[in-house]
Amino acid sequence: MAKRVLVSGGAGFIGSHVTVELMAAGYEVVVADNMSNCDLTCFEGVKKITGKDDIPFVKMDFCDADAVNRLFSQYKIDAVIHFAAYKAVGESVAEPVMYYKNNLESFLNVIEAAKTHGGCNVLFSSSATVYGEPDELPVTEKSPRQPATSPYGNTKQMCEDILRDSVKAYAKYGNEVNAGAECNGPIKGIALRYFNPIGAHPSALIGELPRGVPNNLVPFITQTAIGKRECLSIFGNDYPTPDGTCQRDYIDIVDLAKAHVYAVRRMLDGKMEEDYEIFNVGTGRPVSVLELVNAFEKVNGVKLNYKFAPRRAGDVTAIWADPTLANEKLGWKAERSVEETLAAAWAWEKHLAGKE
Ligand code: UFG
Repeated sequence: MAKRVLVSGGAGFIGSHVTVELMAAGYEVVVADNMSNCDLTCFEGVKKITGKDDIPFVKMDFCDADAVNRLFSQYKIDAVIHFAAYKAVGESVAEPVMYYKNNLESFLNVIEAAKTHGGCNVLFSSSATVYGEPDELPVTEKSPRQPATSPYGNTKQMCEDILRDSVKAYAKYGNEVNAGAECNGPIKGIALRYFNPIGAHPSALIGELPRGVPNNLVPFITQTAIGKRECLSIFGNDYPTPDGTCQRDYIDIVDLAKAHVYAVRRMLDGKMEEDYEIFNVGTGRPVSVLELVNAFEKVNGVKLNYKFAPRRAGDVTAIWADPTLANEKLGWKAERSVEETLAAAWAWEKHLAGKE
């Protein structure tokens, strides 16, 4: 029987791409989302790409413990991938309570359900933001975490710790630590630390759907290119980098989604070497903001209106991954070039424009 994976926040940008790849790999998927930050566009796209009209979908809030329990009672879940969270850095600074409440409570409910319903593995969507401004580049999983600079970043660190501690207590069900506890089976955990996910599915049927003015670079670029925004501001050109603009590790969304399949397989096939494991999901390739803009213009044959603007508060100068651990232990490697990814992002923006 195919193993079943629950994707919380599965109607969003990353969740929808992960759902497609999990299904392509033969897993059964249950998608659950409260739709607070997306509409059904991507879920409909997932159905078209996979050719499956009957993917189980549950509209629910993961902060509702009863609803989470009901979901775990209704379906036998072998692994859960947790995306359901707020993700805007600036908003988290303005509304910290809202962020801590939502991002921590939803994750605690998932872990509790995984524990009480037994034998369910947990994959957490973490972020390179936990490394802050790194002392050494590229960063490995052993690079120290830095104090978070936003409540959003802090929730990523806290959820990693919650998973680590929970796995420590519940991975060996029946040991002296949790003997007698209400736990029906061991849980194991993996945290994937994403670098900068960009792009869209090559079908242009699913992609990023930011609400309002995009915070992130690539949606701002595509919206400027299509005429929705007047001008892209490049935040800072006086950084100590080769061209003065910040450097990031931009990872294609389909490559990123595939990393989840490898991680789920490792968990479900009993291949984990530790009960809690962490992997960087990046390319290992630094790209500056200016390089990305130039690559977008070149590959898509469009001219982008941009200007240099002051630095954005909270931005780190440069960060990119050492993905060796994921390459070796997961057997996963980023495959798509920045050009392919930027072409997909542009095709998605044009697809959206055609629908308006
Ligand atoms: N940038 C611009 N102009 C824009 C938007 C972004 O120049 O309009 C620059 C930023 O200054 C940065 C780079 O593009 O140098 C990338 O910015 P993004 O906002 O796309 O991504 P970040 O690296 O800031 O964000 C990442 C993750 C977030 C995470 C954050 C934490 O995508 O999920 O790091 O700092 F929260």
